[in-house]
Amino acid sequence: TPDKAPPVKGDVLVHASESKEGQPIKVSDLSDQLVRAWPMGKDKDGNNVIRKGDPNNILALYRFPKGQLVEPTKLDATVDGEIVAYSDICTHAGCSVSDSDQGDGMKCPCHSGQYDPKRGCKVTGGPPPRPLAQLPIKLEGEQLVVADFFATMPYPFLSETEWEKFK
Ligand code: FES
Repeated sequence: TPDKAPPVKGDVLVHASESKEGQPIKVSDLSDQLVRAWPMGKDKDGNNVIRKGDPNNILALYRFPKGQLVEPTKLDATVDGEIVAYSDICTHAGCSVSDSDQGDGMKCPCHSGQYDPKRGCKVTGGPPPRPLAQLPIKLEGEQLVVADFFATMPYPFLSETEWEKFK
């Protein structure tokens, strides 16, 4: 069903926080503090569908001052080298990752996995086996939209075979 499908090209990124759920995310809503988002697509009748039927679709968005986002972030999959989107699902065992209290990147509440969102969410501590997957995005008018499917496997529980099917 469309609410459980992973994000695809053309999906609009909308707020996931309870108070603003479903509102399209504007550039001015973003900063170096994590903003959680859902991809929103269409059902077969053309109605908007927030893809929150699968909690693994939760995304993490940031906007950093120019020059702070560096490789291995895929800069051509960001908006102006400033706005970046990642899967918010830890690649270790699937918990939702938050900003670290120490202000040094992201930390997973489950087993203290750490990621650097300015550097492609590479793993900087703990057990995660690989970075959080970056989701290519672009700006269309005022809206942030998905530009392409994840370049690397986003979810920890997918087998390589399942991942091949998604691609
Ligand atoms: Fe994130 Fe284990 S689930 S570190």
